[in-house]
Amino acid sequence: MAAMSENFIVFFLLTMTTCSSVIFSASVIEDLNTLHPPLDFNSTISKNCHLNPSLRYCSASPMDLIEIFKSSIVASHLCNESRNPNCVESFPKIDLRSRPKIAPLYLSFHFFWKYCPLSIHSIDLSNNSLKGSFPVDVLECKQIEVLDLSRNELDGEVPFRIFSDITNLTVLNLSNNKFTESKMSDLELFFKRFNSSSFISSGLLPDHRKYQMKAVILLFVFPILVIVVVWFLWWLCFHRPDFLPRMLRRKHKFTPAMLRAATGGFLKKNLIVKCKGVDIYSGVLRDGTEVRIEIYGNEIARESRKEFIDECKILTQLSHKNLVKLLGWCGNRRMRAIVIEWSEGESVDMWLSRSPPPWKHRLKVAKGVLEGMLYLQEEWPGVDYDLRTNSLLLTRKLVPLISRFKLGHRNSSSKSKSI
Ligand SMILES: *[C@@H]1O[C@H](CO)[C@@H](O)[C@H](O)[C@H]1NC(C)=O
Ligand SMILES: *[C@@H]1O[C@H](CO)[C@@H](O)[C@H](O)[C@H]1NC(C)=O
Ligand SMILES: *[C@@H]1O[C@H](CO)[C@@H](O)[C@H](O)[C@H]1NC(C)=O
Ligand SMILES: *[C@@H]1O[C@H](CO)[C@@H](O)[C@H](O)[C@H]1NC(C)=O
Ligand SMILES: *[C@@H]1O[C@H](CO)[C@@H](O)[C@H](O)[C@H]1NC(C)=O
Ligand SMILES: *[C@@H]1O[C@H](CO)[C@@H](O)[C@H](O)[C@H]1NC(C)=O
Repeated sequence: MAAMSENFIVFFLLTMTTCSSVIFSASVIEDLNTLHPPLDFNSTISKNCHLNPSLRYCSASPMDLIEIFKSSIVASHLCNESRNPNCVESFPKIDLRSRPKIAPLYLSFHFFWKYCPLSIHSIDLSNNSLKGSFPVDVLECKQIEVLDLSRNELDGEVPFRIFSDITNLTVLNLSNNKFTESKMSDLELFFKRFNSSSFISSGLLPDHRKYQMKAVILLFVFPILVIVVVWFLWWLCFHRPDFLPRMLRRKHKFTPAMLRAATGGFLKKNLIVKCKGVDIYSGVLRDGTEVRIEIYGNEIARESRKEFIDECKILTQLSHKNLVKLLGWCGNRRMRAIVIEWSEGESVDMWLSRSPPPWKHRLKVAKGVLEGMLYLQEEWPGVDYDLRTNSLLLTRKLVPLISRFKLGHRNSSSKSKSI
């Protein structure tokens, strides 16, 4: 049967060549434009189909004579281009391997593939840098046994479903392309017919190296990343909350790391006063606020630490122009400190000791102290204060600031912390 249909193709080609002796003399494009079907073409086709109804164009209805004629022109050129031994007698293979100039041209003749000659058993389009999606037209040649599309740049999906009709296909090569990775279920069907050497670097098979990378990432990189992120969050929350947005921070709360950063690592040049049990530093917070930091050296028990914090909480609420502003505290196991808004100036006793100030100034200072006292008396009767001249601060503009407080309302005054 196969032999018979081949004969009829040959007959068909023979008709063509005899009808138009110039057929091999010009390029396929020129021939397509200039050649016309002979007058008896209709009857030739009819005769062929009568003798061999399995010819592909015979089942087309309505029969497009021009298309069939054009496909025969392409067939005769392609047969010669494919170096078939005798294009008059047989046309067994399409061999356009390493012909990147003409392979795309022949692929574009849809009418040729539609009437793909039944004699063709092998199609080789490898090494042509073909671009775009899978050339489905090629699969019109359902009788083929060999199909090589390797070494191209084809992409997208491979039409696996159509391949199930190509039952005689035994050699397939899709290697070295850029197809998209296919579903495992599709490939499993394919592997029953072809082994992995048909899909080398085709893009279809899951890339093992990619999977290894994924596994490495999942097993090592990811956990490390999680640890780093958790560590970083822990560091942010417990060491440097000043890097957090304001709404996430706990107001007034300072950590030793924040104080260390504010004082440049407790630099000597930032140390203002060092006396028994307390070091006073000047510092700058991350937001640029200048502060005075008082650090208490002595270790204290857990209960008194809590007491210290409770007192600080109250003192941060004091707000008057003649009281220093307590910005917050550090109530850590390792460090107890308070952070006070910086006020440029000196203590009242230093002011008095330099040169006796005029009475007008003394009165202004005394008035300020009284206003501060009045505020504490009325608003915070539980808060006691220290009015010694060495603890009264004086700003450059001669505004006095009460800077030492005691909380005497809950505990005996001896236990309470003075600030
Ligand atoms: C047939 O193809 C060969 C190259 O394979 C070419 O040299 C020759 O000219 C072609 N013959 C015709 C008649 O086109
Ligand atoms: C071709 O010939 C058949 C009969 O052999 C006829 O029915 C048909 O109309 C003809 N077609 C053309 C395009 O001449
Ligand atoms: C692929 O084609 C190029 C020319 O386009 C040629 O140099 C090369 O040898 C060919 N490779 C194979 C494996 O045929
Ligand atoms: C496969 O080959 C057999 C024998 O050569 C033939 O009968 C059959 O039609 C071929 N199948 C297709 C789909 O062409
Ligand atoms: C794959 O199949 C071909 C025949 O189609 C055979 O020559 C080759 O050895 C096979 N390769 C493997 C790895 O099984
Ligand atoms: C497919 O082609 C590649 C080269 O592109 C080659 O290494 C491989 O062996 C071929 N596979 C088959 C099944 O011919």
